[in-house]
Amino acid sequence: MYSAQDTKSLQKETAGFMKKAEAENITAKEIEALRTILRFHEYRYYILNDPLITDYEYDQLFKALEKIEAGNPKLVTRDSPTQRVAKGLTKAFPTVPHLVPMLSLDNSYNSDDLIAFDRKAREATRLSKIEYCVEPKFDGGSLSLIYEDDMLVRGATRGNGVEGDEVTTNIRQIKSIPLSAKFSDYGLQTVEIRGEVLINKTNFAKYNAQLIEQGFAPLANPRNAAAGTLRIKDPEEVRRRNLEIFVYNISYFTTTKKTNKKSDVLQSHSGSLEMLWELGFRSPNKEKKVFKGIDDVIKYCHEFEVKRDELPYEIDGMVIKVNNVELQDKLGMTSHHPRWAIAYKFKARQATSKLLNVEFQVGRTGSITPVAKIQPVHIGGVTVSSISLFNEDVIKEKDLKIGDTVLVERAGDVIPYIVKSMAELRSGTEKKISFPKNCPVCGSKLFKEEGEAAWRCNNIECPAQVVERIIHFVSKDAMDIRGFGDANVRKFYELGLLNDIPGIYKLNFKKIGELEGFGQKSIDNLQSAIETSKKQPLHRLIFGLGIRFIGETSAKTLAQAVNHLLDFKKFSLEDLQNLDDVGPKVAGSIHHFFGNKSNIEMLEELEKLGLQLKNEKKQHVTDGNLGGQTFLFTGTLPTLKRSDAEAMVEENGGQILGGVSAKLNYLVVGEDAGSKLDKAKKLNTVRIISEDEFLKLIKKK
Ligand code: IVH
Repeated sequence: MYSAQDTKSLQKETAGFMKKAEAENITAKEIEALRTILRFHEYRYYILNDPLITDYEYDQLFKALEKIEAGNPKLVTRDSPTQRVAKGLTKAFPTVPHLVPMLSLDNSYNSDDLIAFDRKAREATRLSKIEYCVEPKFDGGSLSLIYEDDMLVRGATRGNGVEGDEVTTNIRQIKSIPLSAKFSDYGLQTVEIRGEVLINKTNFAKYNAQLIEQGFAPLANPRNAAAGTLRIKDPEEVRRRNLEIFVYNISYFTTTKKTNKKSDVLQSHSGSLEMLWELGFRSPNKEKKVFKGIDDVIKYCHEFEVKRDELPYEIDGMVIKVNNVELQDKLGMTSHHPRWAIAYKFKARQATSKLLNVEFQVGRTGSITPVAKIQPVHIGGVTVSSISLFNEDVIKEKDLKIGDTVLVERAGDVIPYIVKSMAELRSGTEKKISFPKNCPVCGSKLFKEEGEAAWRCNNIECPAQVVERIIHFVSKDAMDIRGFGDANVRKFYELGLLNDIPGIYKLNFKKIGELEGFGQKSIDNLQSAIETSKKQPLHRLIFGLGIRFIGETSAKTLAQAVNHLLDFKKFSLEDLQNLDDVGPKVAGSIHHFFGNKSNIEMLEELEKLGLQLKNEKKQHVTDGNLGGQTFLFTGTLPTLKRSDAEAMVEENGGQILGGVSAKLNYLVVGEDAGSKLDKAKKLNTVRIISEDEFLKLIKKK
């Protein structure tokens, strides 16, 4: 396309444009010439895979063009390099060209498909047997990483396969991505790696639980969660979601030295996975297996399908790759997928069903959750008949109607959800879903707070809420009272044997014994589980109270902040917001809870009934054990040198903090103490002690 002569002159012109771009004096008249230059370099990138300028230089020219076009919208042409961006690409992050297009994979669904794939590969290479490397197909969002001179310089999403979104700041929040790696040991200078960003099943469930708690609809599946998180504008939020990565392919690299023995590993796919592992990346090095022939490949795929649910992350199949890179190159690729690799997809976890009805349930905080009742359908070994729709918005967004054919998905441990309704299959008899105006249980008028998605029943005495609060209190993650179970809570409530949380500790076991299905053994077990629960740590009790927006993590933070749960009565909104990860919403909710007289009476009653409202860990300190406690010194101490005092803290299992915060337990004050003392005084949570008192604490140990 470009002759050597063209190349030379275009390259010379490029240098000229680079200088002008830097000085920002490219004129509108030169716009077409600049486009020609950019097209030329795209060709070098995408077609020849032999760029003559760096990414940075390309970006500068591209930006210069964007700028001129922005100032001269009439001069924008459809074929301008700036218009390559496909629909659906977010504008929130800069669009970056991939060094190599990110292709997809061809799919196979059974042994015959794999046998056919192998036959074609053998025919094309004229080999009797081919060596394959088999690894999991991770179900997340694909990502390209670039390392230059051993440093991570860029991360980009797949986008349209040719260009993606530059998400470097976000991917720097993923801890399994090394910020530097010794590629130079292998003679590599610029490396582009492909991988899949995942959120593991546990973190996904936790994150969704938080969303539900806050009245939002949860994310549909870990794949959406991972892919979506990559494009969140707040890197802090990205960090909180705990993404992970598996890297599975080196798509591009340049070398530093011509000959480097170690770089021989790159001749096979399995070798490159090993190299990545050695360099500190999470590659499927342990999960991968190399086989000489398709039969063993098929066996391994089946083996893995059985293990699928045991894995901490989602996989949706296996990927079979010709191991020898030279053979891969020989096989080449179509515009869509490489001919040297194929995905073996596991059995679908989707099915269609009919939406029969929608019921409305009242949660423990009064939120009304619509629940879809569908014609029972078998997905991934489980029968699904009931699916939460979370809130009114979900019904609207998915345009659901009673009688609709719906696509249902259930991925591993993930709760089933409705992907979409199939509007094209409607007969016209489908019915609109109308959201109730009154609580389906107590009849109170429903309310919706501004900015919230959920309708609520504000009647705290609503029987549905009372029951749900008790169910939550006894649940596994809260007070963990085994043998109680939802059904028993409901039964005891209906029979008037249990009316509120303290009632759990006042149950009339004699009466329960008279109920059908309650033998002495189950009563003994229940009684002992209730008794044991009295000793549960404070954070479980806090979580169990079901205070709005308080999940397990914030319950732990709260428990750490006090010596006794009722200390929260004294906390101002500001005190609360000074605690780790406590924002205005959470602070408001706690403040509201502890400002309510009947809540305080309930807690006092629970304490009388023998529950642990003290923070046990903190009580240990008076016994002289500094384990886990935090200290800070301020001012000149009368006898101790600051460094000696700090060493004493550490020797006794305590920890020194860098400043006054809600995390601080003790501030040891000497002469001329300054702002730290003022700040600590403002925080209700810090104990201010003298050197003398400090020494007593240590001695008591
Ligand atoms: S290899 C040219 N290996 O699956 C090589 N892809 O459906 C193409 N994926 O876009 C990719 N696990 O995001 C490869 N072990 C694995 C993979 C994998 C997940 C994703 C990848 C790709 C998609 C294709």
